[in-house]
Amino acid sequence: MVLWSTALGALLLAIVGYVCLMGLLRQRRPQEPPLDKGSVPWLGHAVAFRKNMFEFLKHMKAKHGDIFTVQLGGQYFTFVMDPLSFGPILKDAQRKLDFTEYARKLVMKVFGYQSLDGDHQMLHSASTKFLMGQGLEELNQVMLDSLSLVMRDSKGQKLEAGCWYEDDIFHFCYKILFKAGYLSLFGYTKDKEQDLLQADKLFKQFRKFDLLFPRFVYSLLGPREWLEVGRLQRFFHKMLSVEEGLEKDSISNWIAHMLQYLREQGVAGAMQDKFNFMMLWASQGNTGPASFWALIFLLKHPEAMRAVREEAAQVLGEKRKPFDLDVSVLRHLPVLDSVMEETLRLGASPTLLRVVHGDQMIKMASGKEYLLRSGDTVALFPYLSVHMDPDIHPEPTAFKYDRFLNPNGTRKVDFYKAGKKIHHYTMPWGSGVSICPGRFLALNEMKLFILLMTTHFDLELVDPDTPIPAVDPYRWGFGTAQPTHDVRFRYRLRLSE
Ligand code: HEM
Repeated sequence: MVLWSTALGALLLAIVGYVCLMGLLRQRRPQEPPLDKGSVPWLGHAVAFRKNMFEFLKHMKAKHGDIFTVQLGGQYFTFVMDPLSFGPILKDAQRKLDFTEYARKLVMKVFGYQSLDGDHQMLHSASTKFLMGQGLEELNQVMLDSLSLVMRDSKGQKLEAGCWYEDDIFHFCYKILFKAGYLSLFGYTKDKEQDLLQADKLFKQFRKFDLLFPRFVYSLLGPREWLEVGRLQRFFHKMLSVEEGLEKDSISNWIAHMLQYLREQGVAGAMQDKFNFMMLWASQGNTGPASFWALIFLLKHPEAMRAVREEAAQVLGEKRKPFDLDVSVLRHLPVLDSVMEETLRLGASPTLLRVVHGDQMIKMASGKEYLLRSGDTVALFPYLSVHMDPDIHPEPTAFKYDRFLNPNGTRKVDFYKAGKKIHHYTMPWGSGVSICPGRFLALNEMKLFILLMTTHFDLELVDPDTPIPAVDPYRWGFGTAQPTHDVRFRYRLRLSE
């Protein structure tokens, strides 16, 4: 027994020693970007990165400039910080920068889903068909109906017009967007009351998973939290099982089409359940938090709220049957569009990752060329390098509702960096092969919600002097930011409706 433990201990020590040595041995080769391994073997800068990715990268950019490689938990990430140099990475004409390799590992770990080779293409072609064009028009109407249903319901009871209700804004927005989004995509049974209760139950567990998510991805959970994540995964696999789905008669074409593809590929039912969980996460993890930022910005900026309401009054006209609007109005709301674009500039912070297949050169906008090493990961963090660049967006931390409006009221698309017109002046949806396929639906869904909230309800902060909360630093890089704490508000369905 003693012999075995000694041998095992020695083996472990050898493995740890080898891994650390590999890290220590790595040297910057000619033409490679500046290399910063950090002072801790293997971990490198992982602790500072996970604690506050935004501050860490700001520091690295000040130290190394527009491109650098850092060690994070035994892996090497090359961050490109100059948005004028994003083109070759996002277009990747040589197909040597791979998005799927990293994504496959992540979805296996988080959702238990084993990807197929054709999944990525199938997902994007299903989304082109059902989340854009005519498919999107149909879904917009379903979404409006779902939002109306969910918003008229308060804690299981019908909302009474003229009566004030109080809630936490973040929780309120997340719950409504989640329930309406889930029901629109995953379908209704014949019993809508029951559907609402089920959506509520799902949301409560979804939030638990959501709160553990960043530390789960970074493998930082304690033993109890690991058990909790396992329980939550099983809960979602069961609640979203394809068997349960058989009882529903209005699953969206988007989900139905993708599940049919998986069936045709011979994917087992249990794996399809995991696919559903993954799609629930992708479709519902961002719209609620983003709507929170939009609503709190409007509540804290009366001139913006006024502009949104005036535009809505003009576009909707006199017709005011409760929750009855023609979804085609969504195409004629440049002020609301600008509010949403500004909200996502301030609130969306994705990280774009590509694994380098084969050593290759990258040419920066400055003309300088760098060697990317095979097996490393290229990373972009547009929140810092684009959204917060004062050259592209003056006073970048300020909310300016009309930042994306031309003086004549049309959408502004001309933004410049160092005097050059910049193509990627915001990137809330990512870009290139992994761009969010649900972006048009997401935007419409959030616009509908804000439109309904601002035109059908009176809204006020419980404490008008309360500041806009800071962003939770642990969530940088994970899609839409979340606040460090919630804010109380009151809402009242207008009597005249
Ligand atoms: C505010 C709302 C949303 C934001 C900010 C957002 C943002 C993003 C981003 C940045 C990515 C790319 C991640 C990467 O490069 O790794 C992504 C991927 C994805 N999003 Fe969204 N998203 C939103 C809403 C939605 C909605 C409503 C849906 C579906 C109806 C959706 C479906 C997806 C899917 C399926 C992917 C994976 C795409 C792939 O694997 O290539 N998203 N989203």
